[in-house]
Amino acid sequence: MKKSSKPDLYSALKEYSESNNYPLHMPGHKRNTKMLNGGLPYDIDITEIDGFDNLHNANGILKRTAQKAEKIFHSSHAYMLINGSTCGILAAISCTAHRGDCIIAARNCHKSVYNACFLSELDIRFVYPPTESSGICGSISPDSVAAAIEENPNAKAVIITSPTYEGVISDIKSIAEVCHARKIPLITDCAHGAHLPFCTFGQTGEPVSCGADIVITSLHKTLPSLTQTAAAFVNGDLISSKRFEKYLGIFETSSPSYVLMASIDRCFDFLSDSESKFEQYEQLLFRFSEKMKELRRLKVLCHGGDTPENHGFFAFDKGKIVILTGDTNISGVELMRRLRDEYALELEMSYPTYALAMTSVCDAPSGLERLAHALTEIDKTLAYAPSSAAFPPLPEPMNLRITNAELEALPDAELTLYAAKEGTYISRRCIYAYPPGIPIVIPGEIIGASEYEYIERLKKSGVIVEER
Ligand SMILES: Cc1ncc(COP(=O)(O)O)c(C=O)c1O
Repeated sequence: MKKSSKPDLYSALKEYSESNNYPLHMPGHKRNTKMLNGGLPYDIDITEIDGFDNLHNANGILKRTAQKAEKIFHSSHAYMLINGSTCGILAAISCTAHRGDCIIAARNCHKSVYNACFLSELDIRFVYPPTESSGICGSISPDSVAAAIEENPNAKAVIITSPTYEGVISDIKSIAEVCHARKIPLITDCAHGAHLPFCTFGQTGEPVSCGADIVITSLHKTLPSLTQTAAAFVNGDLISSKRFEKYLGIFETSSPSYVLMASIDRCFDFLSDSESKFEQYEQLLFRFSEKMKELRRLKVLCHGGDTPENHGFFAFDKGKIVILTGDTNISGVELMRRLRDEYALELEMSYPTYALAMTSVCDAPSGLERLAHALTEIDKTLAYAPSSAAFPPLPEPMNLRITNAELEALPDAELTLYAAKEGTYISRRCIYAYPPGIPIVIPGEIIGASEYEYIERLKKSGVIVEER
């Protein structure tokens, strides 16, 4: 869709919502007002007046919403979050590790994990997922977590992302066992997996039932709930729920929106009677997957004839449609543009080697049919060009272990990269492609020419690279 001619945000949003553009991106409600019975307007936007409880000390109507979540997700403690998964991740890390402590993190974690570590000046030790030539990260192996714990037995927590933005699920049950053998809590960033407990393909990696101690999940990404809404779950006896609450109180706004909280409450009601809706959703995905067998050049990760085993993934979230362009003469960025311009299909993100469509239980059958049709048509126009866009895995730069104050004191404070020695730089900020927001470089890392070129290549390919 072209730039809106409307002068203000509200009119531009209304105009867009009336267009033919179909959303293959967040939020998970897919603007499907027919399915969700109407809107959530101004007339219910209040503050903590009498009878409406207080999110930071809930014991009335808001506590009842949390209790619904505890029942549906089988969790001892559940929390509504209205500052996204981000505030839950900040609270989870802050309540487990303090200044100078060691934490073990999967290298492909979201920037919020790195921001939490930055704030508390934590000593991060990484576990690396295997990475495919497309740049897609695989599952984190329990063995790699065991090895990291062996090397860092004083670690205060382990944090991994499962499922990833692209849908790759790790073996949380085995990873939790490895962590618990050393009494180390496992935090799982399940921002993209709120729907997993309700789908047959997700249950093996669903982190609450698999024993993760803190699980953070974005309701808005894959379920019918408004943008910014999320939930956190605390279980087991390694984490004090009171301590978690203390840090939520620090990172979450003191004016939580009742409109957002009402959408969370509705989402939980939707989930408590959703079996047939999720069955229909899986059938929709199955039909889409079958259609993908017809593609000659494009491939769709773990759809069509492809399986998680082909990639060594523990499991895969079939709700993610990752269209691989690596063997074709088109990049993921160009594919996303063609889908938008020629078929009015708006995807979630693209990378040089793939484009990502997000689906949800609220998708209309016609949305996925349109995507399947568009992909089969585009596929016919593509030539075979193997590995033309192969991208190296995330670099493994050297961590300088420098304090925040020392970083800020480096000369040329405005620059992201400080030239350390001939051909090497110290990064002052996180540098990441957005989306997905996984840092390529974090503050205090030394990078060399190859990482520098990687970043430049990403920028040239049309991916948005941010530095914060
Ligand atoms: C893996 C991952 N974790 C956490 C987040 C943060 O979630 P939120 O946007 O709900 O704050 C994101 C956002 O995209 C994400 O991709």
